[in-house]
Amino acid sequence: MTVLRLRGFEIRKQYLNKETQKSVLDAVRAVAETAPVFSPMTPYGKPMSVRMTSCGKFGWFSDRSGYRYVSAHPNGTPWPRIPAPILDIWEAVSGVTRAPDCCLINFYGEGARMGLHQDKDEADFQWPVVSVSLGDEGLFRIGQRTRGGTTESLWLQSGDVVVMGGEARLTHHGVDRIKFKSSSLLPKGGRINLTLRVVD
Ligand code: SIN
Ligand code: MN
Repeated sequence: MTVLRLRGFEIRKQYLNKETQKSVLDAVRAVAETAPVFSPMTPYGKPMSVRMTSCGKFGWFSDRSGYRYVSAHPNGTPWPRIPAPILDIWEAVSGVTRAPDCCLINFYGEGARMGLHQDKDEADFQWPVVSVSLGDEGLFRIGQRTRGGTTESLWLQSGDVVVMGGEARLTHHGVDRIKFKSSSLLPKGGRINLTLRVVD
C-alpha cells in the first residue's frame, strides 16, 4: 500500500484488499435492501447522474428545496446502521475517536459524474471526511478551497481510501468520469463511493 498526498488529501492506494472489498460490498448491498438507491433531484431541477442511498444517523438528500441531511430514507424508513466493516475503515484511518454519523453511498453507472463541490453542510469541520472507492476506476479531481483556480486529477481505484481533513476538509473535489467495466468487483460494472462524515 502506498500513501499519496495531494493538496492535503491523503490517498491510501489499495488500502482494502480484495477480500475486504467484497465484505464491504456485501454490507453495502444489505443496506440497499432496506434503503434502496434513488436518483436525487438537484436544487436546479435536474436529476443527479449518480444514484445514492445512506446509512447511519443521518442520510444525504436533495430536492428542489436544496441539499440537506435527513433522518429517514425518502420511503419513510429510518436509515440502517453503518455496518461494522465500514466503521472499521473509519476507525483505522480517520485519526479521531468519534464515530461517523453518516455514510453516503454513491453509485456511478456508465456516464455518471459528480461536479466539483465542497462538503460543507456539517456542523464542525474539525472532523475529517473519509471516502472509500469500490468497483470501476473514477477520475477524481481536486481543486482549491475557493472556487476556480487550478485543479489536479488522479484515478481512484477499487480499494483506495481517501482522507480529507485539516486544510483539505473544505477543498473542492468531484468525479469527472468513470472507466466503465475497468474492475470486476461489480459484475454489471459501475463504481461505488462511500463517504463517511460526522454531521452534528
Ligand atoms: C463525493 O465527493 O461526494 C464523492 C466523491 C467520490 O465519488 O469519490
Ligand atoms: Mn464530496
